[in-house]
Amino acid sequence: MIHRPWLSLIILAVVLGLPPAQASPPEQLRAEAEETARLLARLLQAGRLAIEQNQALIDDVHTGNKGFTPEVFERQMYEIFRQRTGIDLSALAVKQAPFAVPSQARTLLPALIEASKDVVRDAQVVINQRGIGYKNFIPATFGSQASARFSKQSRVQTAMQPRNPKNEPDDYESSVLHWLSGRPNGEAYVSELTESGKILRVMMPIYYQRECLACHGGPKGELDISGYPKEGAQEGALAGAISVKIPLRAE
Ligand code: HEC
Repeated sequence: MIHRPWLSLIILAVVLGLPPAQASPPEQLRAEAEETARLLARLLQAGRLAIEQNQALIDDVHTGNKGFTPEVFERQMYEIFRQRTGIDLSALAVKQAPFAVPSQARTLLPALIEASKDVVRDAQVVINQRGIGYKNFIPATFGSQASARFSKQSRVQTAMQPRNPKNEPDDYESSVLHWLSGRPNGEAYVSELTESGKILRVMMPIYYQRECLACHGGPKGELDISGYPKEGAQEGALAGAISVKIPLRAE
């Protein structure tokens, strides 16, 4: 049986060589990194939800061209993100944007947007195929591909390989997932400074909803449409987390 790991949505973002405008106190650096990490997790989640909203269309056997272009996807992702954060991504480029988006996020959010659109662009042939229902283009595959691309674009040096199918959580992630699984479903984030305060790690939990249970629900062990054994999960249970690792942008 193929083991489905707990977590495959890992963004590892490192900004190299961007000097800060002025030295900032550590709390401010942490606050900026934390907000950036949260927004990245939110954006990846918005992209996953945009795929989910279109799942029936993507898996439509009879239609060829679905019209689910990177641009259509982008608009829907923006809308979901706006509903959940109040932030209009199309205004990001405006220098004096009327909202407080940290400068680190102003570089990284557009990079994740591009990575996400590239994934949808590359999937066009698959999406537009007629005669095939389930295409394995689902929120989870989108999420891991977008994070992998995003990390590559940011030229990250890292030991973790987000594309690795055996994407097991590391020790930190395991302990956070364990802690989260014992708590009620909520929109909590967990964040912690690691590596002598140089790296901030933020995790955003993802919970199962009813529509997830076709694949992740019961009976446990039975194969789902994608060929994986079902987990036997209940609605509201912890499904995994988006994990973001981000440097404090210090000199
Ligand atoms: C069509 C079947 C299907 C549905 C429906 C589905 N998933 Fe999945 N899910 C999968 C597959 C297949 C993977 C593994 C993807 C891969 O190969 O990376 C996966 C992986 C995941 C992962 C990442 C952990 C891992 O094992 O890689 C999470 C988190 C997850 N699903 C949550 C959900 C949630 C939450 C929903 C509902 C909103 C959902 N899934 C709906 C099939 C499904």
